[in-house]
Amino acid sequence: MGRCPGPVKRGTGLVVGDEDETSPAAAVFDALGSEYEKAFAGSEAHRVSLQWLLGRLAPGSRVLDVGSGTGRPTAATLAAAGHRVLGVDVSPVMVEIASRQVPGAEFRCADVRRLSLEDGSFDAVCVYFALLQMSRPEQSALVRQLARAVRPGGFFVLATVPLDVEGFDGVFMGQDVRVTSFSAQDVTALVRQAGLTVVSEESVMFTPTHPDAMPEPQLFLHCRRPGPGADG
Ligand SMILES: C[S@@+](CC[C@H](N)C(=O)[O-])C[C@H]1O[C@@H](n2cnc3c(N)ncnc32)[C@H](O)[C@@H]1O
Repeated sequence: MGRCPGPVKRGTGLVVGDEDETSPAAAVFDALGSEYEKAFAGSEAHRVSLQWLLGRLAPGSRVLDVGSGTGRPTAATLAAAGHRVLGVDVSPVMVEIASRQVPGAEFRCADVRRLSLEDGSFDAVCVYFALLQMSRPEQSALVRQLARAVRPGGFFVLATVPLDVEGFDGVFMGQDVRVTSFSAQDVTALVRQAGLTVVSEESVMFTPTHPDAMPEPQLFLHCRRPGPGADG
């Protein structure tokens, strides 16, 4: 698979550009599918992060889940609490799994770098571990765009692997991957430069449940866009 059908235009504050090439991230996550969910299902920090968001969202909030994977745990948890979740993922296999597993949320197959998002169109945006196959300029530009898509006073959650690496060729759960990220200090600065306030952050080490997995550092940043009621 590896390629989303496109282009798509629908009335949800989101326009998807034409998909004219196969994404390396799509190839990796098409191959992993549900194996990824099994390997990361034990993440207590991810659950705690979702509770942070759930504790602040008004009933029926509109949430964008970037790189939604299999839909679990993020979209499933938010949709079960009654929120309106739109998941976007570049892997057709992940989108198919998520649509089946979380019928209460909506999923689109698209490369988030090609989305055009209306300013202030979401109450919250979450990005759990979806930036790592993008270049640094792409990650910075995307965080700025996603921050603008949050309504003033709304919420933004970013989780990543905070490593000072650029174009590092490694193996992830048996798949060849090229990884780019930032140090914890730099990713926090990037979020602040996008105009967001970091309300809380959590750093953990996590070892996925997989024979080839290594312990990895994880950083969860819980943020707000300044605006009405944005005092924590
Ligand atoms: C490491 S997985 C995390 C999945 C989910 N967020 C979670 O934490 O369980 C990263 C996901 O982001 C998706 N992804 C990576 N680059 C993307 C892009 N440019 N546009 C949309 N999705 C992307 C991958 O296909 C994959 O499903």
